Amino acid sequence: MPTVLALETSCDESAAALVRDQQVLASAVASQVEEHARYGGVVPEIASRRHVEALPALIEQVMAKSGLAYGELDAIAATVAPGLAGALLVGSITGRSLARLHGKPFLGVHHLEGHLCSVHLGEPLPQGPYLVLLVSGGHTEMIRVDGPGAYTRLARSRDDAAGEAFDKVARLLGLGYPGGPAIQAAAAAGDPRRFPLPKGRVSLPEGGFHPYDFSFSGLKTAVLRLVNQLKAEQQAEAARPQPFPLADVAASFEQVVADVLVERTCRCARDQDLRTLVMVGGVAANRRLRAAMERRCAELGLQWRVAPLAYCTDNAAMIAVAAEQRLLAGGVSDIRLAVAPRLALEDAVALYDPQAPF
Ligand code: KG4
Ligand code: ZN
Repeated sequence: MPTVLALETSCDESAAALVRDQQVLASAVASQVEEHARYGGVVPEIASRRHVEALPALIEQVMAKSGLAYGELDAIAATVAPGLAGALLVGSITGRSLARLHGKPFLGVHHLEGHLCSVHLGEPLPQGPYLVLLVSGGHTEMIRVDGPGAYTRLARSRDDAAGEAFDKVARLLGLGYPGGPAIQAAAAAGDPRRFPLPKGRVSLPEGGFHPYDFSFSGLKTAVLRLVNQLKAEQQAEAARPQPFPLADVAASFEQVVADVLVERTCRCARDQDLRTLVMVGGVAANRRLRAAMERRCAELGLQWRVAPLAYCTDNAAMIAVAAEQRLLAGGVSDIRLAVAPRLALEDAVALYDPQAPF
């Protein structure tokens, strides 16, 4: 079974991990969240610089923890697509340099394939063809998985990703960045049914609505309108001031996102006759969403798997698992492989062309 050292630097987490046969030998993540929080979002130039500073120590840390020498590795991998170009370059150059230095194969990995593989870090593994709901800060997609590397996208968000909606709504509620954990904390004691919010739908040119695709930008606008209305009511009642119902607004937002994701994903699984549903990505860490998905799958008799909590948000262990799968299928990248900030998941196989495609 291959042992892989993997690096992840596609956005604002620097990460390194060592994995053997889908078992994590060591994994380390250095988050830059606090620094970007000052700006309300990720600043690409800062992200690249911090990766350069953080990565060497993370690599040393996971190598030391595993007790392995470079000679014992079978391959070195790094995320090369999609993501911030400068940030991806840091992991790619570091990974390729290590591979060259130690005479090991290099594998460039697609970040979304990494997220798909994060479910392999838990037990039990999903069986047969299954439907994945991938919900992160950059993507909200339903992907049918028929085997390693065999992916078909069945749905997507037409505008904001679910995580982006969490981040934007958190900002307008004054809750800081990243929004997901902040909203989850603020919503804990709230009433999730107090404020009805819209389940954004995508119209079809021939009439009606797309059965699975998502739209979250209208929801963000609806929350903004609700906040303004509540503030105006507060001012009108200045004589008897009421506290702003932050917990109820946060819980109502979280609930409608969970409802939409659960309803459409379960409908797609049923229509596609897929009996197993998997959830991965940063938003899959959300407690209300995990509970809602688990409940609905139980009602429908669907098998339900979710990535372990520690591996929902960006990490390098999931990148190592994706590299392991590709390596077992004979995949190795050209050492000259560059980064591809916008490569689609369906084109991930191009990363293993004998001649670097870009
Ligand atoms: O997968 P990820 O770490 O990075 C991307 O590939 O985008 O996802 C980050 C996103 C952020 O938008 C963050 O707000 C969201 O995941 N997130 C959450 C939670 N934890 C992280 N959203 C909802 N609830 C959470 N507990
Ligand atoms: Zn991610």
